[in-house]
Parts: sequence; structure tokens; C-alpha cells
Amino acid sequence: MKTRLGMIGMGGIGRFHADYLVTHADAELTAVCDIDEARLTEAASKYGSRPFKDYREMISKIELDAVYVCVPPDVDGPLETDCLDAGLHIFVEKPIALDISTAREVEKKFADSGRIAGVGYHWRYMGATDLANEMIGDEPIAFLQGRWVGGMPTVFWWRQMASSGGQFTEQCTHIVDLARYFGGDITRVSAGGVKGQMCKRVPDHDIWDAQAAVLHFANGLIASIHTAHLGEWFADYGLRIQTPDSCFEINEIPWSSKLTVHRKGEMCEFLGPQRGWKEAHYIEDDVFIHAVRTGDRSRIRSDYSDAVKTLAVNLAITRACETRQTVAVKDIG
Ligand SMILES: NC(=O)c1ccc[n+]([C@@H]2O[C@H](COP(=O)([O-])OP(=O)(O)OC[C@H]3O[C@@H](n4cnc5c(N)ncnc54)[C@H](O)[C@@H]3O)[C@@H](O)[C@H]2O)c1
Repeated sequence: MKTRLGMIGMGGIGRFHADYLVTHADAELTAVCDIDEARLTEAASKYGSRPFKDYREMISKIELDAVYVCVPPDVDGPLETDCLDAGLHIFVEKPIALDISTAREVEKKFADSGRIAGVGYHWRYMGATDLANEMIGDEPIAFLQGRWVGGMPTVFWWRQMASSGGQFTEQCTHIVDLARYFGGDITRVSAGGVKGQMCKRVPDHDIWDAQAAVLHFANGLIASIHTAHLGEWFADYGLRIQTPDSCFEINEIPWSSKLTVHRKGEMCEFLGPQRGWKEAHYIEDDVFIHAVRTGDRSRIRSDYSDAVKTLAVNLAITRACETRQTVAVKDIG
């Protein structure tokens, strides 16, 4: 029998997952849910799924094994709690929430219920990430340098602090998460941000235009990560991992990922066929469905508890930008 899935949120990323999931040999998209009537109707007819405007009706009226939660982050929390109460496994898109108490509450529910969690930190599944891991081997990592610099997503909620949490929490979270994947736990951060340019050009814009953060890791590592969205004319998304002998640079480029290795003065680029955005998402879907079907969670690279750690670092960066003080991640809660 196929794994019966429900999807909550049929916006950009929900539709992307749905396009793949309807082709999956082991899954069926039994139901779709969105509060937007037009999106819901379109999704139900495209995927042949039962439509629900209210997710509570969806999880109480039909038999499901798991749900995908693909809503803006200020909506996350109660949805996950209700789905766990209904006994469902959950794949949730990053960021998992905008405040730590909501995230901790859901984390506890996951632990108590034993349900499976997958989180959409797809950089962990990219080809360039795997290749970097393999090539770094036992070389000691000394320094990480990351950035998410690019244009503005078109969704309205993204440019509002109350609904997206700002760029570190919303998009640059991929880079912070990848830094954690390679460097381990982060204990304290200092950071700064500037506002004032984009709000003159874009209505309802109140997030920082640019932010820069210094992250200290438990093992003594240090990272410098920055983000900006000042125009569509320039995009640079990536993480550099430096050892005493080499520098490994992971980049997400349109529909692919790229690894550039500088070793003792020589440079080598590994372009395609590295798994990029699309394939990395397919793998995170595959490993989640595999885990739901078999109970084997070993291939899931980002679960809920791990994503809470990334959220706590992003919230510490936000607090550091607001207070201009160094913030201990444990003080976030
Ligand atoms: N991993 C990635 O690369 C990636 C890419 C894009 C978006 N995302 C994440 O996915 C999430 C959604 O982003 P998006 O770009 O798809 O946003 P979106 O605005 O395009 O879609 C969100 C959808 O959720 C619906 N929605 C809101 N509240 C709801 C509710 N209570 N019940 C049912 N539906 C509800 C909205 O009507 C909308 O259709 C965000 O957290 C974002 O950060 C991740």
C-alpha cells in the first residue's frame, strides 16, 4: 500500500513537492489543503487529491500516514501540534517556526509521540555537499565563511519581520544550517544589520537589508556569515570551508550545485552533474517516505530537533542585531 500524504500549503514550495510526490512509486497525495480557494481548487484538480480548506478537517476526516507542512513560518506550530496529536508523521519546510517556545513545544510532541520528522534543509542533500564531505575527510576545519546574497522573493510575507523573521531566519538559514552540518554546535554569536534602503523601494518592507554575523562553535571553530537582498542583478549563495591546506566552496547555482576546491595553490571546479535544488528536494522526500514506511530514520539529515538548533542560532543572530550585544545561543531558550 502506498503512503497516504496530505499537504498543507499549496504555494510555491508545496506545489514543487507535490509535483514530485504524485510521481512517487511509494506515495500518493491523498489530500491537499490551502486557505486560498483558487490555489486549493487548482491543486486538487492537478493532483487528483481531495481538497480541504481547513487542515483540521483534513486530518480528522480522512486516513493519512503523514503530512507535508509548507506554510509561511509564522503559521507553523499549532498545525504540527494538531497533526502529531492525530498520529501523523510530518515533513516541515524550513524555517520550522519563528519563536523558540513554539519550536520546543513541537519538539517535545515529536519526542513523546515517536512520530518521524523531516525538515527541508535541502543543502544537506546537495551533490556538492556530499563531495565536499568526502574530500575534506580528516582534514581539520579551521574556518567557515558563508553568504546568502541575492534578490527578493516575490511572496509578500517574506519582507515582513513578523511573518518571516528576517533573512537569517528565512533564507540565510540554509547557510547557517550547513555551517552547523560541517562545524557542529554553535554557542555564541555577534552580529549587526542595516535597514533603510529597500523600505524606500518596496512596500511593507521592514526586515534588515543586509546583516553580518560571527558565529563561535563549541569546538573552537569560527564562522563569518552575511546576507543581503539589494537587487536582482547579483546572486551569490554559498559556504566556504577552510582547512590549513585547502578551501572547499559549496555553491547553489541554478538547478545545480558546484564545488570549487583550492588546494595548495591549485584550483579545481566540480560542476555538474552535482545534485542541485531539485534533486536535493527529491532526495529529502525519498528519505522521509522511506522512514515513514520502514521506521528507518538513518537517511534523514535534518530532523526536527536538529532544526530547532539552527532556529536558535538564527534567533540569537536576530537578538544580536537588535541589541548590538554578543548573544549566547543557550539564552535563546
Ligand atoms: N527549502 C527551500 O528551498 C524552500 C523554498 C521555498 C520556500 N520554502 C519554505 O516553505 C514555506 C512556504 O514558502 P512558499 O514560498 O511556498 O510560500 P507561499 O506564500 O508561496 O505559500 C504558502 C501557502 O500556505 C498557505 N497557507 C497559509 N496558512 C495556511 C493554513 N493555515 N492552512 C493552509 N494553508 C495555509 C497560503 O495560502 C499559501 O498558498 C516557507 O517556510 C519557506 O521558507 C523553502
